[in-house]
Amino acid sequence: MTVTRRHVLAAIALAGTSATFSAFAAKPLVIGFSQVGAESEWRTANTVSIKDAAKKAGVTLKFADAQQRQENQVKAIRSFIAQRVDIIAFSPVVESGWDTVLREAKAARIPVILTDRDVNVADKSLYVTLIGSDFVEEGRRAGRWLVEHAKKTPGKVLNVVELQGTVGSAPAIDRKAGFEEVTKGNPQLKLLRTQTGEFTRAKGKEVMEAFLKAHGKDINVLYSHNDDMAIGAIQAIEEAGLKPGKDIVIVSIDAVKGAFEAMMQGKLNVTVECSPLLGPQLMQAAKDVAAGKPVTRRIVTEERVFPAEVAAKEFPTRKY
Ligand code: AHR
Repeated sequence: MTVTRRHVLAAIALAGTSATFSAFAAKPLVIGFSQVGAESEWRTANTVSIKDAAKKAGVTLKFADAQQRQENQVKAIRSFIAQRVDIIAFSPVVESGWDTVLREAKAARIPVILTDRDVNVADKSLYVTLIGSDFVEEGRRAGRWLVEHAKKTPGKVLNVVELQGTVGSAPAIDRKAGFEEVTKGNPQLKLLRTQTGEFTRAKGKEVMEAFLKAHGKDINVLYSHNDDMAIGAIQAIEEAGLKPGKDIVIVSIDAVKGAFEAMMQGKLNVTVECSPLLGPQLMQAAKDVAAGKPVTRRIVTEERVFPAEVAAKEFPTRKY
């Protein structure tokens, strides 16, 4: 019998992560990738990274944009299964609801790689690895910065509002949890309001307007789960006649160029890095899986914290 790449991948998918089969590199590897959407500057950079890395690696990429809808991602995954791609990769818009479609991929013997966001499935063998950030740690980093900031005004209580990411998504859940872990019980920090801004500028602005309407000048701090919502909120704060970064301290996550520009203008105080440049790691992991090499279950991205004081110095080196 002639053994093809499909046979190797089928054996890997069946055996889970411990398989070590030899490689067959006859045709270019075909990856079906389902992207969340184009909701943020981060997401656009992530898409560019994946497309560029596929080109460089000689991988055929079938790309589908889910426009922030889980049903579109499920459809895309089923279409990749029907097309019999070598590997399915996706960044899940929300954590839950993936068991059925991932079981279908497993039954079709197609290995699945997660990028950026995690899924909540009972059977962990339904995917090979997750490549991306530690979102809980990002939330903790944002919280630690704020705790230190509060120490500059001992005894003063700071009223905090929070813009959450997409409801049910791993970054929204984890960034909230990490931030709370570090700030809960701190007598200087009081959470006034928390609401989703869906990771977009438009929604971030809209929700911040509502926060300002309800609490006005009582708001001291905005914690935003991403830079795009923070940038939208900055507009709302300015339109309300207040100074973002001064009247309202802004703590955000992603470290995209737009956030550095806002920091250099004194409108944003700190951004916690979340790297979207996952393309090269995805291609490497896909090739390793295809070659039957063992792949670690979790590949965590290295990231930093950028307060406004370092923005001008760091800006020229930023890649996204
Ligand atoms: O999953 C990563 C998050 O999704 C980024 O923080 C956000 O900007 C994006 O939309």
